[in-house]
Amino acid sequence: MILELQNVSKRFPIEDNLFGKTTQFLRAVEEISFAVNALEIFGIVGESGSGKSTIARMIAGIYPPSDGQILFKERPLQPEPAIQRNIQMVFQDPETALDPRKTVLWSVAEGLKIHRLLPRAQRKDRVVQVLHEVGLGEDVLQKYPHELSGGQKQRVAIARSLILQPELLVLDEPTSALDVSVQAQILNLLLDLQDEFRLTYLFITHDLHIVQHLAHRVMVLYLGHIMEMGNTGEVIGQPLHPYTKGLLQSVPQLGVKKSITPLQGEIPSPINPPPGCPFITRCPQAFDKCHQKPPLIPHEKRLMRCFLYQHTSNPSSLHKIHVV
Ligand SMILES: Nc1ncnc2c1ncn2[C@@H]1O[C@H](COP(=O)(O)OP(=O)(O)OP(=O)(O)O)[C@@H](O)[C@H]1O
Ligand SMILES: [Mg+2]
Repeated sequence: MILELQNVSKRFPIEDNLFGKTTQFLRAVEEISFAVNALEIFGIVGESGSGKSTIARMIAGIYPPSDGQILFKERPLQPEPAIQRNIQMVFQDPETALDPRKTVLWSVAEGLKIHRLLPRAQRKDRVVQVLHEVGLGEDVLQKYPHELSGGQKQRVAIARSLILQPELLVLDEPTSALDVSVQAQILNLLLDLQDEFRLTYLFITHDLHIVQHLAHRVMVLYLGHIMEMGNTGEVIGQPLHPYTKGLLQSVPQLGVKKSITPLQGEIPSPINPPPGCPFITRCPQAFDKCHQKPPLIPHEKRLMRCFLYQHTSNPSSLHKIHVV
């Protein structure tokens, strides 16, 4: 196990009263626990605002969790350079990672300087080598980001992470800003790199086709809560949770003429979330009991947060249900 989150929550303070005191919190992530195995591709899916990037940022050390703990290789995540080097993040928009005033050579070499990994004289050769690994030639070395295409920029951003030889890459919608054919190239590149450099990926996307194609396991997130989690083939192939089903029905499929039934309604505000099941306001199958919050428990080789799959009338005994 390379990464473990134990009951991790993130609340953002959002309102100060006259005396500068926080009076309200936005609950972006609620008691999330999961573990990622070395060499695994672990997917996180969910609509906009469900807390995907907040989880990524906590793992990359950008935000501290409000509660719970994050373990990297069984040790609590610390702001230590050696750990930071080992966990790299690739963002949706490569512009975020690249300084518009710096050349590709400078941007890709920056981590080597910060972490003092190579003597100055050897840096350029190493940059050329890493650029080659991401499919770019020496001709881009002196270029600035505005002189590159979107796909080239994302390759440079990946090279910038890769040069530090991380073990875990947190990829936050790395292809969403690219057009479809470039998306496929970058996804194939990521798969090749994972194989070649024995990387572990935490792959965030709202594209269920991508997660189905790439991830070994997947977590479905809604309003900061895990709703369903398990092997991708099972969760995406045979979704059980009404939210996962709704997400899948909202996706058009190439070559399949079927009516698309998008999820009804909007995600409620995480400042004032519904007190029971987070999905209650949009769930077509909600019933009385859903005014209480369902726990996340095992069901058919996956974890589920839904009373439809918890056959007991006594909520306090739910955690005792053992599903084989
Ligand atoms: N720094 C912040 N301060 C306050 N609220 C924040 C901050 N970052 C995120 N949020 C809020 O936390 C919630 C989760 O946001 P997050 O960016 O993690 O969602 P997401 O799943 O990545 O969405 P998207 O698919 O649009 O990228 C949202 O309601 C967002 O407005
Ligand atoms: Mg996001």
